[in-house]
Amino acid sequence: MSELRIHVKASKEYDVVIGQGLLSRAGSLVKEAVPKATKILIVSETNVAPLYLDTVKSNLAKEGIEVFELVFEAGEQSKNINTITAMWAVMAKAGFTRTDAVVALGGGVTGDMAGFAAATFLRGIGVVQIPTSLLAQVDASVGGKTGIDLPEGKNQVGAFHQPSMVIEDTDCLKTLSFDKFTEGLGEVIKYAFIMDRELYDILEGYENKEGLRNDPGMLTKIVTMCVNDKADVIKGDEFDTGRRQILNYGHTVGHVIERDSGFTKDHGVCVAKGMGIMIDACLATGRMDSDTHDKMMDLIRAYGLLAEDDITPEAAVAGIMNDKKKRGNTISLILVNRIGEAEIVPMSPDEVLDLLRGGKTN
Ligand code: GLY
Repeated sequence: MSELRIHVKASKEYDVVIGQGLLSRAGSLVKEAVPKATKILIVSETNVAPLYLDTVKSNLAKEGIEVFELVFEAGEQSKNINTITAMWAVMAKAGFTRTDAVVALGGGVTGDMAGFAAATFLRGIGVVQIPTSLLAQVDASVGGKTGIDLPEGKNQVGAFHQPSMVIEDTDCLKTLSFDKFTEGLGEVIKYAFIMDRELYDILEGYENKEGLRNDPGMLTKIVTMCVNDKADVIKGDEFDTGRRQILNYGHTVGHVIERDSGFTKDHGVCVAKGMGIMIDACLATGRMDSDTHDKMMDLIRAYGLLAEDDITPEAAVAGIMNDKKKRGNTISLILVNRIGEAEIVPMSPDEVLDLLRGGKTN
């Protein structure tokens, strides 16, 4: 069984292990990551737990680890303080100490919440991320962003807490629904646009776009390229004060669309819409040439995502004003005007409004 490791250099260094069939080795990998843990809380959700929880549980038990579980109702609606309180309660009742740990088994919501519970319990215990969705494998599980949503906005409360290891079993992608797989492609395409022209060329030239989910070799390659990209960004800016902000491409407006839908629209779907709105805006305001515009819009659509939304520029800016990426009255907008190159452009709300109005196509 082959595996590949990408080493992430941050305030805490760790490996992202990528391969097929890794869940069947979860016990030894977790033991390697948190060798002193005698108790582990596995956090999962109602869609993922029936598929993988027993495998991971029995694997950890084989290593002599006492295993606890917390399975929450799947969906962004669960990403709140009540679910975190339930995790804290399990660990407190079971007498977890600082050397014990949490395992996140699921998609982005699971990883963000399990990471936040680990960041805050006893002022910080270890977490091992086992992302099972494409979105979480290529982006959310790496880099240590953890947190929960508030009714006022996504990820408004959280902490940076790097994992002790990320275990990415690409076999898990086989069980994703069509919609869950497709939303993950929103984040994959983001990496191509912001920093990876080679990834763009691979995605653009790939013949069987509709069959990508059944091509494990290609998926492993794509996941590996995205994780390498993310590791490269994290090593230079773990705390999101500089270059890491380019990872927010499409997210500034995307988060507003997501929140306004009551979190019923998937994150990756909203990122694709957010990217499409920025691409239109950059063309309309003369920042981007029409060839680049068409190539970027075509790629988003070719992989089954929508590149537009009926949000108005006024509603988008009102929503952005509540976003944590705002510093004072300045919004750090991420723009891509050449494929593979992102820039961070500080703008006032009025400047963002002008940009988005320029890009309004309906
Ligand atoms: N998902 C964006 C970041 O990790 O910074």
